[in-house]
Amino acid sequence: MVATDTKMILFGAPGSGKGTQALKLAKELKLKSISLGDILRLEVSKASDLGKQVHEYMQKGLLVPDGLVSKVIEENLISGGFILDGYPRNLDQAKTLDDILTRKNLKLDFFIYLEIDENTITKRLLKRGRGDDDPLVIKKRWEVFIEECNKILKHYKNKKKLIIVDGRGGIDEVFSRIKDVLK
Ligand code: AP5
Ligand code: MG
Repeated sequence: MVATDTKMILFGAPGSGKGTQALKLAKELKLKSISLGDILRLEVSKASDLGKQVHEYMQKGLLVPDGLVSKVIEENLISGGFILDGYPRNLDQAKTLDDILTRKNLKLDFFIYLEIDENTITKRLLKRGRGDDDPLVIKKRWEVFIEECNKILKHYKNKKKLIIVDGRGGIDEVFSRIKDVLK
């Protein structure tokens, strides 16, 4: 069984299932789920200062500037276990996260990469239809992801935290795969 102070990151392309799997894992393992995308969308809906600053980037499928999101992460990462979804997304963010964890005396246990292809995620996202699930924006989000993906994977491989999980198939199938690798 996974310890209740386990700290993990779920990484993957848009539509790879990060949010879906994070919620299922959080419930089963009694860990806190932190979704940066959800936090930012809430700020947009409240039309807060942060929400106003990030809205346009999100609509276009571009990354919000690192300085804006690192503050959010710093505030949300507290002691105890967590499943972080949506951060880091580039090497600078990965290094910022390393610093935040060191400062807070926290240690990451797993970095899980949900591997998936563009075709599958496009179908899933078009079916969902969130504000940024438009064909052109999905394409942009995929490109932004691909641009940084290998650098991030290398960073966590070097730290011996990287676990690759096949993100294809049904939700429960992927969930079982993740639970298997955590054993
Ligand atoms: P974010 O909200 O994180 O969006 P994303 O990365 O594009 O990913 P999604 O939330 O669309 O997909 P997901 O992997 O969570 O999959 P989900 O479980 O939802 O970020 C949005 C924006 O915020 C970014 O574009 C950026 O602008 C900004 N942002 C966020 N983080 C940032 C950062 N660190 N730095 C800078 N900017 C940042 O599943 C998708 C759909 O598929 C659902 O309908 C689900 O039901 C379905 N589904 C899931 N799994 C399966 C399955 N196995 N089979 C069938 N359907 C499935
Ligand atoms: Mg999500």
